[in-house]
This record gives sequence, structure tokens and C-alpha cells, in this order.
Amino acid sequence: MHVLVTGAAGFIGSHLCEHLLRNGHTVTGLDNFNGFYDPGQKERNALAIAQLGGDRFALVRADLRDLPAVQAAMAGVDAVVHLAAMAGVQPSIREPLVYEDVNIRGTLHVLEAMRVAGVRRLVFASSSSVYGNAVRVPFAEDEPVDRPISPYAATKKAGELLCHTWHHLHDISLICLRFFTVYGPRQRPDLAIAKFIRMIDAGQPIVLYGDGGSSRDYTFVLDTVDGIARALEATTEPGYAIYNIGNSAPISLRELVAHVEAAVGKPAQIAWQAMQPGDVDRTWADLTRARAALGYAPHTPIAAGIAAQVAWFRNQQA
Ligand SMILES: NC(=O)c1ccc[n+]([C@@H]2O[C@H](COP(=O)([O-])OP(=O)(O)OC[C@H]3O[C@@H](n4cnc5c(N)ncnc54)[C@H](O)[C@@H]3O)[C@@H](O)[C@H]2O)c1
Repeated sequence: MHVLVTGAAGFIGSHLCEHLLRNGHTVTGLDNFNGFYDPGQKERNALAIAQLGGDRFALVRADLRDLPAVQAAMAGVDAVVHLAAMAGVQPSIREPLVYEDVNIRGTLHVLEAMRVAGVRRLVFASSSSVYGNAVRVPFAEDEPVDRPISPYAATKKAGELLCHTWHHLHDISLICLRFFTVYGPRQRPDLAIAKFIRMIDAGQPIVLYGDGGSSRDYTFVLDTVDGIARALEATTEPGYAIYNIGNSAPISLRELVAHVEAAVGKPAQIAWQAMQPGDVDRTWADLTRARAALGYAPHTPIAAGIAAQVAWFRNQQA
């Protein structure tokens, strides 16, 4: 199968491309290598994919907002995994218009380009942030998600809505996956675990927001990638579905810091600050649906996952 992966040079995208190539697929990766974080990290990710894929991997350096470029990237493609986005909650509060442009219009470009090219299978990267401060845990897919609390979450919900519309009108078999805080080697440097590893190792203070009791359902990136690959296979059946791809084992911020301290081998210096607007109190995936429909079963305990991320961090520094 020939898969177009948008956001291929990013954290999750680069692992997905490697997984697809190892399983014999052909991959076109689209990415604009933007400066949201060090583009050098994305270049290293893209190089690793290219070395693995040889002539089964093609890289398209293009922006989602450039419709003709997205259309051109659809040539010969059987299915699309749409991961490219402006990610992150706090920057979306500072720059909502860029988030709207990339995450909503950019998703529309992917859908339209698929319609025109006759590509009929899509997996879309949504987020646990669409649940906002949902009261009921664990979060189940049929929970109402019309109360997002950040522009980022609102754009992801909008993406799910656009996906449903294109599925309905144009017969696109479509699966939206709500990822829960993904971590592991190549993690975006703006995310908590990457930041904590870097700063604790350097002996610098880390900032914790709230009272340390907020919790996240941290999911190891290779488990997330397994979920994406399963969803991609499932798009051979017509339909539209939403699945949580999480770990269903949330831990508190305090517990997380303790895991990072143990893996790095140094104590953290902590500076406490008030909870930031836009951040949710907790996330926790109900995996009943993903287990039943996709056979998804994450298996990486947090300690093992963080150890793998610390090993990658040390390797990068060497
Ligand atoms: N990492 C997480 O914890 C998490 C959680 C929930 C959802 N997600 C979603 O998963 C997807 C991948 O996230 P990630 O953590 O790998 O982020 P990432 O920033 O590492 O990857 C996204 C990639 O998309 C590219 N990109 C951004 N805007 C683009 C544009 N206009 N045109 C072309 N390429 C563009 C970036 O250069 C980057 O390489 C995103 O859609 C994100 O919202 C991630």
C-alpha cells in the first residue's frame, strides 16, 4: 500500500513512517519543517526515515496551506494519515489564527485533495483535548465534546466534524483517533517529559503548574503508532469512527516527575506556579471501543517508556 503521511518529519509521524516502511509499504511524507520547534530535529527524523525507506520513501517539503502542493502529493496514494498540525495548547492561545489556518483549512485541503484524487481512506489525528474538562472518567468516545477549553482543542474538534462531512458526502472511509499525551524518543521538546528530562539532567528548576495533582494518560509513541497502523488497516471497511488511543493508566504530575527523576538519576528542583488556562485537569482514555474494533492494546509501562526516552536523549547528546 502507498500511504501519504502528513507531518512525517515530526515526532509521531517519523515513527509511523518507519513502522509502515518496515511493514513493506511505500510512503510519501509531507512536511513543511516549520519552526514550532528546532527544524534540525525534524531533519534528523526525515533522514532516518529516508535511510530506512530507500526508494520506497519520498519526501515532499510543502505546506498544508498550499492546496496544489497537497493535491500533487496525492499521486498514486491508496490511503492518508493526516498528522500535520500546529500542536500544543498554550501556543494556540497566543496564536489562534495560525492554528485555525493550519488545523482547519489545512485539514480541508487534505480532504479536498483526496476527493479530487479519488483517495478514499483516511486516518485523522485528533486529540484527547477535545474532551475539555469532562466530568466523567475514563473519557469515552460518545461523551459530548462540545466544550473545548483551548483554540487547539476547538480546531481538533472542527477537524473531526469536517472529516465526518467528507466521509458522508464523498464516501471516504475515515477514522479519527484521539491521541492521549504521547511521549518517547523524538518527543516534541515543548512537551512536559522532554522538558523535564532536559532540565533535571542540567540541574535546572522545572516549573510545575497547579498542585501536582493534575493527571495525564501518557502513551508511549510506539503504542500510539500501533493504534494508527491498526486504524489504517480498518479503513478497508467503509465507515466513520472515532477511537481513543491512550494508555488507560493515568498518573499524576508528581508521579511523573518521580519517574523522570529515577530515569535521569538526579533530583528535580521544582518551581510551583498556578494552573494555566486552557490546560485540562486530567485525561484518561476508555479503550473499550479501540480494543474491540481495532484490537488495540498498549503495553508499555510508564517507567519503561521514560527509560527509552532518556536513553534516546543521552544518545542525542553523545
Ligand atoms: N504528541 C501528542 O501528545 C499529541 C496528542 C494528541 C494529538 N496529537 C496530534 O498528533 C499529530 C502529530 O503530533 P506530534 O506530537 O508528532 O507533533 P509534531 O509537531 O512533532 O509533528 C507535526 C508535524 O507537522 C508539520 N507541520 C505543521 N504544520 C504544517 C503545515 N502547515 N504544513 C506541513 N506540515 C506541517 C510539522 O513541521 C511537524 O513536523 C498532531 O496532529 C497533533 O495535534 C499529538
